[in-house]
Amino acid sequence: MMNKPATIERFNAGASPQGCPVPPDQRSRMNQFLKFAIDTARDAGALLKEDHSRPKEISYKGEVDIVTETDRRSERLIVDRIQRVYPDHGIIAEEGGGCATKTPKYCWHVDPLDGTTNFAHGYPCFAVSIGLTEDGVSIAGAVFNPISDELFSAARGEGAHLNGKPIHVSKVEKLAVSLVSTGFPAHQRKNSINIDYYWEYTLRSHGVRRDGSAALDLCAVACGRFDGFWEFRLNSWDTAAGVLLIEEAGGTVTDLSGRPFKPGGIETFATNGRIHGEMLETALRVREGATKR
Ligand code: IPD
Ligand code: CA
Ligand code: CA
Repeated sequence: MMNKPATIERFNAGASPQGCPVPPDQRSRMNQFLKFAIDTARDAGALLKEDHSRPKEISYKGEVDIVTETDRRSERLIVDRIQRVYPDHGIIAEEGGGCATKTPKYCWHVDPLDGTTNFAHGYPCFAVSIGLTEDGVSIAGAVFNPISDELFSAARGEGAHLNGKPIHVSKVEKLAVSLVSTGFPAHQRKNSINIDYYWEYTLRSHGVRRDGSAALDLCAVACGRFDGFWEFRLNSWDTAAGVLLIEEAGGTVTDLSGRPFKPGGIETFATNGRIHGEMLETALRVREGATKR
């Protein structure tokens, strides 16, 4: 269960590490990690694109929680490569191919195919997401949509990029004129509390999109297509890269109480920073039952 927040803690739009000087040796190491993440995401993405037009082999991890052979092939490619190049790094990968038993300094968070349901239905909205944490802090990440050929990338203190060009969050100031997005986890869908939030944000914004790929939703906030995104119960493989992208693009990511988001956190409230207060206040009112359908 999530802790009930008494008040919204002061969230810090300046929590983004942008502007903090990074020592040169650390910078060059981080850029090597980023290049590795980008190259690997591109190669795994090519594999998703190849399989996209073929008949899919689907199996179920839960009632509607789908996994395909492509999820596994993509994960094998990524995990094998990390193990070959960085044998002492940890790996948390969605389909279980990683090795998360130790608590290493560096840990890769791998979603080999984010948007599996879309992929399985031929809806071209899915991606590979690869993020790296150092002592629990995200330092590099890449998200690749092979269909639109969009590669989102970020390294801590180095800004966020889309296909090599700098990106920034939107300048929208009010929830009322914002476009936001959310997602619903495939498991426990009958008990999802999110439907109440979905209802309220729909009434208070230009609209709520539900595109089926949390990693791409986060990237859409980072490049200003969406002004905000929230979801409950995401995993570190969904968020490690996308959250860093938003922070580096000038946005804000917290939990429901306004505390800074931590990799693996189960409440993800991500915005351009400007609508963050309204986003959280609305969420708290829903939480406290002040908004009734
Ligand atoms: C899912 C997608 C979806 C989100 C779910 C995730 P998957 O990831 O990101 O948008 O709403 O919570 O589990 O299963 O397609 O990798
Ligand atoms: Ca996945
Ligand atoms: Ca996912």
